[in-house]
Formats: sequence, structure tokens, C-alpha cells
Amino acid sequence: MEVTLSQRLQKLPPYLFADLRRKMAAAREKGVKVITLGIGDPDSPAPDAVVAELVRAVADETDINRHRYGCDVPAEQFPNAVKSFYSRRWGVELTDDQVVTTMGSKDAIAKLPLAIMDPGDIGIAPEPGYPTYNIGHVFAGGSTYYTPLKKENDFLIDFDSIPADVREKAKILWMNYPNNPTTATATLEFFAKAVEFGRANNILIAHDSAYSENVYDGYQSPSIMQIEGAPDTAVEFFSLSKAFSMTGWRTGCVVGNPSAIKALTTVKENIDNGTLRAVQLAAAKALDSAEQVIPPVNEIYKRRRDLVVDALNKAGWNLEKPKSTIYIWAPVPEKYNTAESPSGAFATELLEKTGVVVTPGRGYGPAGEGFFRISLTYPDNVLKEAMDRIIEMK
Ligand code: MLT
Repeated sequence: MEVTLSQRLQKLPPYLFADLRRKMAAAREKGVKVITLGIGDPDSPAPDAVVAELVRAVADETDINRHRYGCDVPAEQFPNAVKSFYSRRWGVELTDDQVVTTMGSKDAIAKLPLAIMDPGDIGIAPEPGYPTYNIGHVFAGGSTYYTPLKKENDFLIDFDSIPADVREKAKILWMNYPNNPTTATATLEFFAKAVEFGRANNILIAHDSAYSENVYDGYQSPSIMQIEGAPDTAVEFFSLSKAFSMTGWRTGCVVGNPSAIKALTTVKENIDNGTLRAVQLAAAKALDSAEQVIPPVNEIYKRRRDLVVDALNKAGWNLEKPKSTIYIWAPVPEKYNTAESPSGAFATELLEKTGVVVTPGRGYGPAGEGFFRISLTYPDNVLKEAMDRIIEMK
């Protein structure tokens, strides 16, 4: 038998990176030597001390809980480490009811709408933006009002442009700074506006902070929790994936509004059984050693950022060096601008002719059209080779 896909699944476009993986496999089959700069999945391993803690904890015969459901045997070290990290990093003092452990941000981003949206409700999401914001809305029976991030607004959300009828129906507004894919950063003044918007319209502000620790040139990214009263109307998703090179470990947290945290916890209790205790303990170790383990990895990304931006600028691009994230967001060469989807045409031809995979901006929404994204999570020599091939296409 062949199953009939649910209407909610039929409503979704192919998942951006699943689609890219399929295209890469097809090119490889044709004998193309593929170089991928697609997904932002760090190539550096997780820090040694974190790996050592995982190995210790999983083999600790004195801990009778080491193999049990993570939700039943929470390691208090992890929420304590989250609280200590927020206090050291941003001077924010979180209370116990303001923290929940997640199985990584993607999982929690998709689950939160199930807790607070009903069929017919609206969620507001930026575009270009991470596809999972919309996916969560659709799975909850709702839909997405997309708010465009425009270059002339420094890729910040223009709250005033969100119509009154959308504000009325919206339950949640997503934002993400440092931003994937545009690499834009936000100030505390912007976060204050977001909190004000949430409060005035009774909309939960959900800030995806996955890239807050991938910072360069002395830049420090703020947390929305630094804004007075933020926990009344906002939550922040923090992930260990990009900061600590722990994507596969699926671990992170959501902090902030206690009622949203409780609602998300209820969804989690019904769907997942939590993170393995040893992973929780290792994640606590990561946060406790953030100041030591993050800067060396950022040095690597900074070197690669310079390598890529310098190479593209030498070939006629005019890019600024991003202060944060692990991406470069660049316009496609002008000659593709007559195509129906310039970024799609460029990415496809680049793959077919040179074997290089970049992410087409259109995949993040219409306002991403005309751009492509390079991920810096690949070794220097791979990036160098890929830049030579990209430049040939100009
Ligand atoms: C990306 O490349 O945008 C991210 O790695 C995807 C993700 O975090 O799920």
C-alpha cells in the first residue's frame, strides 16, 4: 500500500536541505565531483572536555539513571549551567520556571506552535528565514504571515508594516539574530521594540538565538532577555549546535516566558522522552567552559570568512565581512538576474558545471531571491577550491 499524505504534509514545500541532498546525490551519480557549502553543520568536533564528560557519564556504573528516559532523570546540572551562562554572558538572572531543556532548537521550534496555536491561527515569520518556523505553524493547523527582511532595513523586522488584522490573529512572532541566512545582527534597541510589539499585541515573541556565540572582531551579540520585562512576552531558543559544534547531539534550551515554557514542556511530555542524561551532563560541561572553548573555533570561522569574502571581493563582489553567524550571504552574479529564479538558476548551474553546492536564497523565501548562502563549516582548502569555481561562473 502507498500511504496518502496528510494535507498538512502536502502543504509543505520539499525541506530545503533534503532537496539539496537529493540534488547532490544526482550530480554525484553523473560523476560530478561535488563540493558542498550547503548546510551549516560544523566540521570541528565538540570540545574534548565535553566528549570526555559524555564518555564518563554514559559509562558511570554508579549512576543508576544513566540509561533511563532523560525526562525522568533530568540532570539539574544542565538548567543550572544555562542559568549561570545567561548570568555570566548577559547579566540575565533566570528563574527555574524560565528554563526548559530541548532536543535542539529545530525540534523545539516545530513543537512550540503545537502548544499555543489552533487551526486558523497565524504565526509571523521572517523571510528569508529558517523554514522550520513555517513548518511548525502548518503542523499546528495554522498558517504563516511572512514579514520580509529587506536590505534597506538592515534585514531587521519592520514591526510597523505588520497589518492590524495579522496582529489580531497572530499567536507568535519568530525572529532570529544573528540572522540566518542574511548574517544581520540586532541591537538591544531593536529587541526592546520587539518586546514592546509583543506586549502591545499579546503575541509571543520567539527569538531563535542559535548563532549568538559565533561572533568575530570583538562583536558581542545581545540577548532579548536583557530587555526589562522580556520574560512577560518573549522566549529565546539557545542551541549548543553551532556554538559548541554539537549539531548531532540534539541539545539546547528555551528560556523566558514561564507559561510558554510550561506549554512547550507539556507538548514535549506527550511526544518525546527527553535528552539522554549523559548528553545533558556533557552539555552542562560545554556551557560551563564556554569562555575557553568557543573563541578558538570562532578564530577558524573568522579566517574562513576572510578567505571567502576576500576572494569574492577580488572577483568583483562588494561584500562586507559579517560580524556573526557561520555564513556568507552574497548576491548572485548579475547575468542570472533575467532568470525566473536567479538564485535557483545560479545554484543549479554552479552545481552542474562546477560541482559546488551553495544554498539558493529563494529557498528561504521570496525576499531571499537574488542571493546565495555559503556555509563556513568546511575546511579552508575546500572553501578555496570552491571560491575558484564560483568565480569562474561570474
Ligand atoms: C542551516 O544550514 O541553515 C542549518 O544548519 C540548518 C539547521 O540548523 O537545521
